[in-house]
Amino acid sequence: MCGIVGYIGDRDCVPIIIEGLKRLEYRGYDSAGIAVLSDGTKEVIKTKGKVSELEAEVAKQGLAGKMGIGHTRWATHGVPNQLNAHPHFNQEKTLFLIHNGIIENYSELKNKLIKKGYSFYSETDSEVVVNLIDRYIKKGRDLAAAVKYALNKIDGTYGLAVMYENEPDKIVVARKGSPLVLGIGEGEYYIASDVNALIAYTQHVVYLNDDEIAEITKDSFTVRTITDEEIQHEILKVEMTEDEITKSGYPHFMLKEIMEQPLSIENSMRGRFITDEGIVKLGGLIGYEDRIARSKRIILSACGTSWHAALVGEYMLEEFTGIPVEVEYASEFRYRNPIVGEDDTVFFISQSGETADTLAAMREAKRKGALALGICNVVGSSIARESEAGVYIHAGPEIGVASTKAFTSQLVVLSLITILIARKRNMDFEIGVELIENLKALPQKVEEILKLNDEIEKIAEHYVNSNNFLYLGRGYNFPVALEGALKLKEISYIHAEGYPAAEMKHGPIALIDENMPTVFIAPKDAVYDKILSNIEEVKARKGKIIAIAHVDDTRIDELVDHVIKIPECHYLFQPILNVIPLQILAYHIAVKKGLNVDQPRNLAKSVTVE
Ligand code: F6R
Repeated sequence: MCGIVGYIGDRDCVPIIIEGLKRLEYRGYDSAGIAVLSDGTKEVIKTKGKVSELEAEVAKQGLAGKMGIGHTRWATHGVPNQLNAHPHFNQEKTLFLIHNGIIENYSELKNKLIKKGYSFYSETDSEVVVNLIDRYIKKGRDLAAAVKYALNKIDGTYGLAVMYENEPDKIVVARKGSPLVLGIGEGEYYIASDVNALIAYTQHVVYLNDDEIAEITKDSFTVRTITDEEIQHEILKVEMTEDEITKSGYPHFMLKEIMEQPLSIENSMRGRFITDEGIVKLGGLIGYEDRIARSKRIILSACGTSWHAALVGEYMLEEFTGIPVEVEYASEFRYRNPIVGEDDTVFFISQSGETADTLAAMREAKRKGALALGICNVVGSSIARESEAGVYIHAGPEIGVASTKAFTSQLVVLSLITILIARKRNMDFEIGVELIENLKALPQKVEEILKLNDEIEKIAEHYVNSNNFLYLGRGYNFPVALEGALKLKEISYIHAEGYPAAEMKHGPIALIDENMPTVFIAPKDAVYDKILSNIEEVKARKGKIIAIAHVDDTRIDELVDHVIKIPECHYLFQPILNVIPLQILAYHIAVKKGLNVDQPRNLAKSVTVE
């Protein structure tokens, strides 16, 4: 979490940094700051709140300059306020630092620095780093060397950038566990936590690796490891357009991303079928298919929404490949010394590819000899780069904090992997073809569901004042219930729980009364009649019911208060369709409550801290 941006060149860095910070606000938005150091200007401005507050303050003070760094914060150590906002600086205000990550041994380092006469104005862990660098400078090191010595003392994660008044022509950056990308211009360089912040200026980038430090002037950059080995990085071209990272006329990124799903789903499968043969080809897994197909066990590990996708993946993979599948929260997997080894394939699913727990779990699985594969959206992200191989979901940039199109694309990719491996094992040709034809039909069906937007908005009006919600589904749709509940709670702050529908009788039914809405995911599948019985049970207790049902279902009409009718498809892919009305419902309830759906309180898009 936290977004960092920097610029060095001949242009005014301030609008570039402010614009970049806005593009990174999904990473954190509780306070922001900027430091400029150039041609006699030395200024730090910090504000509590969103980047727009900083922008106003910067405009008021008329800040300008050719080298600067900026930060948008998601608080870990210390409340969101002006003092705790970055950039941080040393006592003499000659050294300025922005930091994304967590310094685990900060309190020990802070005590040592205090004993040496340092004092601190903030409650942050990051302020320790700037003072530690200061200490090495005072011992006679130059900026790059001082950064290196300081980082050697640090336990934890960082993506950071530092400027020093006595070396006014350079920015030093470093990375460990938090992403950092350099944008290469002509006679200018950009620094950012991700490419969104710099894509308006350059498509040419270098992704720093962990334990690397780069020294950047306006004309060149050099990268060395923390152990002083020089590294030559390939300059990569990023294929991303600005339109992909703006709202393009939509009031919120979340709505734009929901509406983009016909295309994002299409993109996730584009060029990946050999329909005549009923098989799937995934370039990123070439050379690994046989090993996956021979695995004794498949583990799917992830966090949050991606974990819900993993749960659907478990149902799919186990049913169609016959390989036992387990789903693990990455945060649990990494700390419980899991029994995992060479016979296991572990897929790590992450939209951002930067989630700290998922990344750490992946390293643990690799260490233990398992085949560690990534399923990521962000190209060049840490998980994508460090996994042995993997598949991109190609959903395009997802900026709204609540994950929507990434979830449906993760399900598409898990479906593709299921077909790929099942066809290598025991799935016959006809089923392969049938599944592929069903997948190809999805974008059109998603278009149909999106046309229900106004209808779902009207349903949302009835529930704006609800305090609790229950989401129920069975089989493949149990994870959809979990995901529907998560979408609602994270953006509308309404308490919501997802349950397997049959579990309702074992406890949650006690909650049902006329004030408790229940959302049933009720497609006509093998458990349809059982779901209808569950609906009757809620109705008998005067609960309000919203159902997601198939378009030709008339039985359900009399049983429920509201029904959202959606197209039918193969039951394997039904979760991809069923979740979309739930995304739209959550969106409208939150908007009607006047909440900022793109930046819900306390959340950040990419959770790069444990
Ligand atoms: C919910 C949401 C989060 C993420 C989770 C994992 O809408 O977005 O629950 O799914 O933080 O993030 P990634 O997929 O980037 O690893």
